[in-house]
Amino acid sequence: MPIVKFVKEKKEIEVAEGANLRAEAVKAGINLNQGLNGFGASVNKYINCTNLTCGLMSGSCGTCRVLITKGMENTNGLTTKEWLRFKTPIMPDPIPCLAFVGHEDTMRLACCTKVMGDIEVESGPEVNLFGQNFFS
Ligand code: FES
Repeated sequence: MPIVKFVKEKKEIEVAEGANLRAEAVKAGINLNQGLNGFGASVNKYINCTNLTCGLMSGSCGTCRVLITKGMENTNGLTTKEWLRFKTPIMPDPIPCLAFVGHEDTMRLACCTKVMGDIEVESGPEVNLFGQNFFS
């Protein structure tokens, strides 16, 4: 069974192959919905697209961003929503496009990520809203 290591939380959990990363984190008491640079984390823990739509609109709010710092090859490929959010400037929902903010190769939305093997996860990665890349 795959092992998921949450680096900041210093916690490791064993999950079934194909398990949803966000769902497994919730079961383990880890909040991956940390809003934008931690702002809104306590609210986003409950108010997020997965909770509000019972998973039907997962991938829409962007508050569950994580970095897969090891084992990206042990996850499913980017979903269409992740690709649109990370690779293009056209996702206008609550947290606008996350393209051009850095970490594009390791950033995932936890609610869209399936765990297929061992991975390491960094929760709540910082977004530099004033960095030279954000508005490029
Ligand atoms: S919970 Fe909304 S994008 Fe993941």
